[in-house]
Amino acid sequence: MEVGLVKTNPVSVNYKTTGGILDFYVFLGPSPDDVIQQYSEVIGKTMMPPYWSLGFHLCRWGYTNTANLRLIVDDMRKKQIPYDTQWVDIDYMDSYKDWTLDPNNFNDLPNLVNDLHSYGMHFIPIVDPGISNTVGYAPYDDGLNRGIFIKTHDNSSFIVGKVWPGNTVFPDFTHPDAGNYWYTHAKAFHDQVNYDGLWIDMNEPANFVKGSLTGCTAGTNDDPPFVPPISGDMTDKTLCTSAQQHLSSHYNLHSLYGHFEAKATYETLMRIRGKRSLIISRSTFAGSGKYTGHWTGDNHSTWADLIYSISGIINFNMFGIPMVGADICGFAGTVDVELCTRWLQLGSFYPFMRNHRDRDGDGQDPASSMFTSTLPIMKKALEQRYRLLPYLYTLFYRSHIDGKPVIRPLFFQFPQDPKTYDIDRQFLWGSGLLISPVLVKGATTVTAYLPAGNWFDIETGVESMGGTHVFDAPLSKINAHIRGGVIIPTQDHDVTTTRSRVKDFTLLVALSTTGLASGELFWDNGESYGTTGGQNNNFIEFKAENARLTSTVVLYDYAVKMTLGSVVIYGVHSRPTIANFNGQYVPFTYDSNAKVITQNLRFPYNMSCSVLLQQNSIKQSLAHYNDREKKHVLYYQA
Ligand code: GLC
Repeated sequence: MEVGLVKTNPVSVNYKTTGGILDFYVFLGPSPDDVIQQYSEVIGKTMMPPYWSLGFHLCRWGYTNTANLRLIVDDMRKKQIPYDTQWVDIDYMDSYKDWTLDPNNFNDLPNLVNDLHSYGMHFIPIVDPGISNTVGYAPYDDGLNRGIFIKTHDNSSFIVGKVWPGNTVFPDFTHPDAGNYWYTHAKAFHDQVNYDGLWIDMNEPANFVKGSLTGCTAGTNDDPPFVPPISGDMTDKTLCTSAQQHLSSHYNLHSLYGHFEAKATYETLMRIRGKRSLIISRSTFAGSGKYTGHWTGDNHSTWADLIYSISGIINFNMFGIPMVGADICGFAGTVDVELCTRWLQLGSFYPFMRNHRDRDGDGQDPASSMFTSTLPIMKKALEQRYRLLPYLYTLFYRSHIDGKPVIRPLFFQFPQDPKTYDIDRQFLWGSGLLISPVLVKGATTVTAYLPAGNWFDIETGVESMGGTHVFDAPLSKINAHIRGGVIIPTQDHDVTTTRSRVKDFTLLVALSTTGLASGELFWDNGESYGTTGGQNNNFIEFKAENARLTSTVVLYDYAVKMTLGSVVIYGVHSRPTIANFNGQYVPFTYDSNAKVITQNLRFPYNMSCSVLLQQNSIKQSLAHYNDREKKHVLYYQA
């Protein structure tokens, strides 16, 4: 289908299609946010990702063996670089066959995976849909027996294409027995290598020959009168559209291949692991966000692709697939230290943060010696991401429950402001955090648009008002601003989320010009299913109004120690004389950026508490403890 915007007055949208089934829905909003929520009602709400999947993922094509991979893992650890998940590409397989291990080079992979687990880390291998048609290879023999591969146009045999392992057949994931088939082989492999998620690639489905080894038919399904001018014929680089699947023809199902594979993989992992896993798929369709995340595919190590990655993640959030990221530092091409450093900074704000490259050239993991000079900068970006994960996780909860996008373009939050409409080089996390990255080689400043209101630099607390600004942006800094009016829950960082999840929380309170702010925190064990329905989770709401900051425990059904370590309040315009936490004086600092910090509170989060900042010395007068309503009350005076 070719979709084009025609800039007549009024603007029109033109659809030209080869044919097929067209269903149109119109969502009336009125706000852009409402449109996405209404869309999510139709296509299904997004999956709740495991907490660990929000950490940093490291991958490449071209790890030569387990020993080589182990060196990288060790180096990452030695340098204390926050990092949760190690991935492997097709290199680990025996002759690129799914569900096998290269017996020479990756024989020791199961031990490495156990070691990752004992360090609180996770492991994800790639798997492609093309099944080598070698007799004696169990996934092929079993699929033949079950009859679950995609068939030729006349149903006379299974259609054969060519992918990494050579000649391949393709599981038909719409076949009623495909789920059991996929589970059987995924489970047998899981018994060998204890993986925590799956990377499903090449599922357009990709094919190195046109249509099939024996070509396609001359019928209109394979050779329709109109094809959008993208890459050539209808069957280029994929299967014949005349091929037959259980549910319908491949012509009708082609764009859904990755979707059905993602669904089968989701159900498989649920059966095998019994807890949330991560799936990342290259091909997706409307509704795939229920099962999978996505990466934007093979990009290049160029500044242009750094820029395009932003519209990529914004789009996929509109499509209902918020767990999305681009290959950080670029997949193809030569690694460049400055670009890769900037990319890691921007990538630390992708919902799915993975560094991946192809098999050519040097590795681009942050521990690599080429990054000796910028390693502290990369670590700083990663540590900041890890601190912000409670906020990101809560945004994923909102997406899962309400269909709200995790990443938003500025016009979602400020639809009344036409200046925001075409901004595609800045984006928001939820409604509260604005990211304005450097996207130009050699730049040390960034021109950023701040919509109306007040905004605080997340690092320094420096306040800026709405308008266009030129901010300092040396290589060591990515500009991110908290919107006045928002309270962001954060947590101390560590080298894995397993470790950071048990550390102290900090509330970052950004007061609006009228002294208001609000926020929320969703918390659970980070991996069980069914924690988002009012059980086995904690939910805390934060509100600032009338010089009072209240923290209300709405639900505390997940019995775990959570500690409020500190509160940082931006926008307190004159120095308070005392800080009072639950009726007790606590030390605090105040700096010229109107920032108040109370530290070492060490307060158990499941109970109520209060902090009071006063300009006079009236002791305890405003301290408030409300046990019945389970409220934390924190006061300040602006
Ligand atoms: C495809 C994927 C890429 C992967 C490669 C080898 O090109 O998009 O990410 O590294 O195949 O499996």
